[in-house]
Amino acid sequence: MELCDGKIGFALTGSFCTLNSMLIQMKKLKDEGADVYPIMSETVFATNTRFGDASYFIKETQNLCGHDVIATIKDAEPIGPKKMFDLLIIAPCTGNTLAKLATGVNDSSVTMAAKAHLRNGKPLLLFVSTNDGLSAAAKNIGTLLNCKNVFCTPFGQDDLIKKPISLVGIFDLLIPSAKEALNYNQIQPIIYQG
Ligand SMILES: Cc1cc2nc3c(=O)[nH]c(=O)nc-3n(C[C@H](O)[C@H](O)[C@H](O)COP(=O)(O)O)c2cc1C
Repeated sequence: MELCDGKIGFALTGSFCTLNSMLIQMKKLKDEGADVYPIMSETVFATNTRFGDASYFIKETQNLCGHDVIATIKDAEPIGPKKMFDLLIIAPCTGNTLAKLATGVNDSSVTMAAKAHLRNGKPLLLFVSTNDGLSAAAKNIGTLLNCKNVFCTPFGQDDLIKKPISLVGIFDLLIPSAKEALNYNQIQPIIYQG
């Protein structure tokens, strides 16, 4: 399947420093012709930070996608029975959401979206962005890499000196990863070679 034929859920979780970059990726997906549905964790939907107000991200994503933001468990639940998406992207994916996905905890709009989507045997693409990527989150990333229908955007260390255990996905590889994940393929190499 091509991106232009795809219905794609694009879920934002609370790695706030990457949200503006994700708006750019969302626009690229739209430019590829995909039908994109914005999803936000409750944290993103309700938190203003130095990287922007929640209302700004809600307005921008709705304008870009032409769909209302899904931001509650109740609104995310129909993703399963309605078979809404061909691909679900969680980008950025926090350490918090990684931990929940890896252990089957479902208490947010985004984990509900993932659970509902995976029950249909559809592909899920993660874009890791967390300061504990090489510590507490490492085992969860490992668990998820070993899960059926779960794929990862290549990631690397974003600041070896100041944040030596931090990992972040490679923004320019999100769309190429989505093209592959839509067809149940993992883009390689997963560890970014620089
Ligand atoms: C300004 C700010 C930046 C944050 N950046 C990150 C981040 O890059 N990665 C991460 O895993 N958590 C980050 N957090 C913490 C998450 O927002 C927090 O764990 C939250 O519970 C995540 O919820 P969610 O995964 O449901 O969105 C940040 C929090 C704040 C306030």
